[in-house]
Amino acid sequence: MEKKQYERPIIKSLNAGLMNKFGTRTEYAPMTHIDNVAVKDLIREFGSPLFVLSERKIRDNFKTAKRIFETRYPKVQFAWSYKTNYINAICNIFHQEGSWAEVVSRFEYEKALKNGVPGKKILFNGPDKTDDDLRTAIKNDSPIHIDHLDELYRLIELATELKVKPRVAIRVNMDTGVYPMWDRFGFNYENGQAWDAINKIMATDKLNLIGLHCHIGTYMLVPSAYGVAANKMADLALGVKKRYNKAISYIDMGGGFASKNTLKGSLQLGVDYVPEINQYAEAICSTLLNAGFEKDELPYLYLETGRALIDDAGFY
Ligand SMILES: Cc1ncc(COP(=O)(O)O)c(C=O)c1O
Repeated sequence: MEKKQYERPIIKSLNAGLMNKFGTRTEYAPMTHIDNVAVKDLIREFGSPLFVLSERKIRDNFKTAKRIFETRYPKVQFAWSYKTNYINAICNIFHQEGSWAEVVSRFEYEKALKNGVPGKKILFNGPDKTDDDLRTAIKNDSPIHIDHLDELYRLIELATELKVKPRVAIRVNMDTGVYPMWDRFGFNYENGQAWDAINKIMATDKLNLIGLHCHIGTYMLVPSAYGVAANKMADLALGVKKRYNKAISYIDMGGGFASKNTLKGSLQLGVDYVPEINQYAEAICSTLLNAGFEKDELPYLYLETGRALIDDAGFY
């Protein structure tokens, strides 16, 4: 066997920011205080390295987002995405502000219960729920977001076994014009999978279809993609009403709004080029309001916004 040629290891430096057309970044000013507390004092008390999260900033971010959506749409409910940050103190800030919980695993599910969130207010997402997870969610009356057909069939069996009608939604993925498409999870809109899942749910009397869920990506810089997504979700909901005379009670638009922090390698400051929450809100809310729902059947708008509510509240 021929001996492989020796390749010299290379150490490559990582730069905090790429050079833009004006040269390298110069605008980093050392931060001396966080919420009026001197960084020096924090380090003296807690040591270094240190991660600090500002409760005040988190509450401000949440209140602003809530106000922006509620000004534009009458039925809004936020659910804190546990995967974004599941430190109990953080989750509880969001719960105190009125957020439900959005979870993707049994670990997160149990955490939400321990944080005092009632089962009815825990949205159970994710592709990997075991039968035991599903049984627990059914018994607690949590909305279960079905990810794939295997889960759908198992739910029908469990509903039969437990003699209850679980409240379910389906996760929908779709082409929003932003690529690559987030199509790993859920049922596709364009190729008919979403309708196939809906028809299968409606064909059995074992499941109660109450919602539709999507999460089109993360750090999405194009607000109009949410208009496209909301339009497709509304089309499904209105289709269910037309075909089965059943009003869908909520449309969950997931998360994905870009946060204001400056990511490594980005050309400009996050605050300068990231869209405002009101641009996302406008795209979603006006699309849903104009979709053609009867006034008394306007679905709730659920939001699982994660990073946009917390990224800029963290310092290290
Ligand atoms: C289903 C779901 N909801 C919400 C979120 C939160 O997303 P973001 O932090 O981009 O708002 C994620 C994150 O990937 C997710 O997968």
